[in-house]
Amino acid sequence: MAALGGGDLAFVPTMGAFHEGHLSLMREARKAAPRVCVSIFVNPLQFGPGEDLSRYPRNEDRDFDLADSLGVDIVFAPSAGAMYPRQITKVCVPEVTRLWEGAARPGHFDGVATIVAKLFNIVRPRTAFFGWKDLQQCLVVKRMVEDLDIPVELRFLETVREDDGLAMSSRNAYLSKEERAVAPALHATLLRIAIALRTGKADASAALEDARLALTGEGFQVEYLELVSMRDLEPTHATGDSAIIVAARLGQTRLIDNLRL
Ligand code: PAJ
Repeated sequence: MAALGGGDLAFVPTMGAFHEGHLSLMREARKAAPRVCVSIFVNPLQFGPGEDLSRYPRNEDRDFDLADSLGVDIVFAPSAGAMYPRQITKVCVPEVTRLWEGAARPGHFDGVATIVAKLFNIVRPRTAFFGWKDLQQCLVVKRMVEDLDIPVELRFLETVREDDGLAMSSRNAYLSKEERAVAPALHATLLRIAIALRTGKADASAALEDARLALTGEGFQVEYLELVSMRDLEPTHATGDSAIIVAARLGQTRLIDNLRL
């Protein structure tokens, strides 16, 4: 595919169904460069066989209007056939993909790295914006850019939350009314652990185990809740340059969140 961009272009890759998290990335991109490109592509390559590809929320007309209202210059919304006309060469990022989302969703980060590399080559941005909401994704993209010497500057932005603390996510639309009422406990739990660690009230493993039990008691199925190093995402007990990361299911809906310490 021919290059779209080049020059002083800021880029926000997305899968659409915009919420305030996406819009915050676009606003920062708008400030960063004279031209902004947003991509909307529900990337089949990053969904596993039993995952939600077919029911992933799609709302392109609304997305186009929102992008337009924020002064986005180019919306790139290719079809799956245009992006993947045949089997594709994949980008496979090592190490930082080993645990957590990488372990829970085999092949997911190959799909993410491949589409992000392909989009970078089509869009040719000077700067690209990602959200810390997907913390492991940020480290995967960073590692790929470093390893493959991709000439782009990465910017990572804070997670945008609902008033009750729930991290905004397209997948929140799957929550029933009852689940939605419980969901903010995820963020509240991360805050509680961070406070316990900061005040030295509990050591990390005790604080994490208490929190796992508390979330289970509230109806979450906890997949992981860990303190990890921001360097390599391996579990740690040290709170410097680390993050608490969580993935938990509420009914059929899988939620992830994190808090960097
Ligand atoms: P998507 O889930 O649509 O997210 C697009 C971007 O928005 C990602 O960088 C994501 O981290 C960020 N984002 C999502 N929720 C956010 C929130 N509450 N606050 C701040 N930023 C938030 O992530 C993807 O798409 C895809 O994996 C993609 C990178 C586009 C590759 O297909």
